[in-house]
Amino acid sequence: MEAIVAVFSDWGIGSEGTQQVVLKADRKHFRELTSGAAVLVGRRTLGDFPGGQPLKNRVNLVLTRQDIEIPGATVVHNEREACEAAAEYDRCLVIGGASVYRQMLPWVDTVHITEIDLQPASDSFFPNLEADPDWVRAETGPWQEEDGVRYRFCTYRRREKEDLT
Ligand SMILES: NC(=O)c1ccc[n+]([C@@H]2O[C@H](COP(=O)([O-])OP(=O)(O)OC[C@H]3O[C@@H](n4cnc5c(N)ncnc54)[C@H](OP(=O)(O)O)[C@@H]3O)[C@@H](O)[C@H]2O)c1
Repeated sequence: MEAIVAVFSDWGIGSEGTQQVVLKADRKHFRELTSGAAVLVGRRTLGDFPGGQPLKNRVNLVLTRQDIEIPGATVVHNEREACEAAAEYDRCLVIGGASVYRQMLPWVDTVHITEIDLQPASDSFFPNLEADPDWVRAETGPWQEEDGVRYRFCTYRRREKEDLT
């Protein structure tokens, strides 16, 4: 599985249930990387989508502990069900929020990060991959700018396990 996330310079990703800064270039990048794939999303983040609706042109897998149906989405109730559902598709990207990123990270091998060079107050965070020896920054795009805000696209990959035999 992959994950895609926009992080501020302190690995903050949101505040009070929403993203404080949204860049058009990031939305486009997100659409390009997720279109045609399955996405795994927490019920709270789904509520922050336009109209609270599942994303078009993607298979939406929604994690919730509630016994509910969500039109246009497949509901999964725990990490195991999420992994089984994700395995049905060629590509599945975890798209948040904070609790879903944290819980699903063990099954993720690639993380697409939009690094936004700002540090607004956040109450939701992505795990700091720079501080995690299991992860290595594999690609670093050039700094770009939108409305005076610097951002760049990076990719982190899970480090291959060393062969200790
Ligand atoms: N910067 C970014 O790229 C980005 C992307 C996405 C989200 N975000 C931010 O992340 C924040 C939201 O994160 P969050 O942690 O509050 O919410 P979340 O992860 O989107 O959703 C949490 C909900 O998912 C369900 N859930 C989580 N783990 C589960 C499990 N193991 N089994 C079954 N259901 C499970 C529960 O739903 P029920 O309560 O229905 O049981 C839980 O309340 C917002 O600020 C949002 O803007 C940022």
